[in-house]
Amino acid sequence: MTARIIDGKLIAAELRARVADEVARVQRGDGITPGITPGLAVVLVGSDPASQVYVRSKHKQTQAAGMASFEHVLPDDVAQGELLALIARLNRDTAVHGILVQLPLPKTLNTETVINAIDPAKDVDGLHPNNAGRLAGGLAALSPCTPLGCIILTKSVHASLEGMNAIVIGRSNLVGRPLVQLLLNENATVTIAHSRSRELKQLCARADLVYAAVGKPEMVRGDWIKPGATVIDVGINRLPDTDGKTRLVGDVAFAEVSQVAGAITPVPGGVGQMTVACLLVNTLRAACAIHGLPKPAV
Ligand code: GUN
Repeated sequence: MTARIIDGKLIAAELRARVADEVARVQRGDGITPGITPGLAVVLVGSDPASQVYVRSKHKQTQAAGMASFEHVLPDDVAQGELLALIARLNRDTAVHGILVQLPLPKTLNTETVINAIDPAKDVDGLHPNNAGRLAGGLAALSPCTPLGCIILTKSVHASLEGMNAIVIGRSNLVGRPLVQLLLNENATVTIAHSRSRELKQLCARADLVYAAVGKPEMVRGDWIKPGATVIDVGINRLPDTDGKTRLVGDVAFAEVSQVAGAITPVPGGVGQMTVACLLVNTLRAACAIHGLPKPAV
């Protein structure tokens, strides 16, 4: 059997189009209250090439959705106080509804302090403890973009996740932990596994839904997978190729696993495409909430 390939590129493009429609609607206003333009501020510290690529892509896609995009690039030796002052300015700026500080930050900066400085209402990464705590408490919250994307991709295969056995491999604040909470909200039965888990293969073999978010190239093998399972690969690992270039691989051994799984996301072209699309969704949702507008239809 060969798995159905979940086309993250296509699903992300459809989502971006729906966001653009909703942005156009909130910009028009309703004849009584004037329209608004959702705005996203992205802060990049330093010149990490991978981060530069992500930030450029966020900027382009934000503008393509009809939103305002504000980019702030700071040198990698910036004083923490200066970064915190920028965040304070963005918190006050009424044209900005979403603030994203690109991670990882240089080692000289305290990531926790920086994230805590973001207004939770503008925390489109869903990393502020207020949002993480609200999500864990089953309350409405801005949720991290990559896990939101994982849920949307899963729902392109299964209309309902109720009662399904899911395993999340990885427990990062950005992906694993919030993904567990979102799966619980969908009434899935969730196993949380990580680098210290024993008998990972046996745990995986019970799962109808497998989420690999560990950052270990091709760790999940074909004989770990229950036939017909849905496999969502969050990994983006750059491996040296024979010709001196780099090759992108996920946390899942795609060639093997796609022989057993029912559906699988490719790398690239799977989860990665969804993250920025979900960032646009979060920015739109944040803008509507800040202005007291009804929840958007995405
Ligand atoms: N670096 C890689 N992915 C992400 C993300 O989703 N948010 C932020 N802030 N930084 C990242």
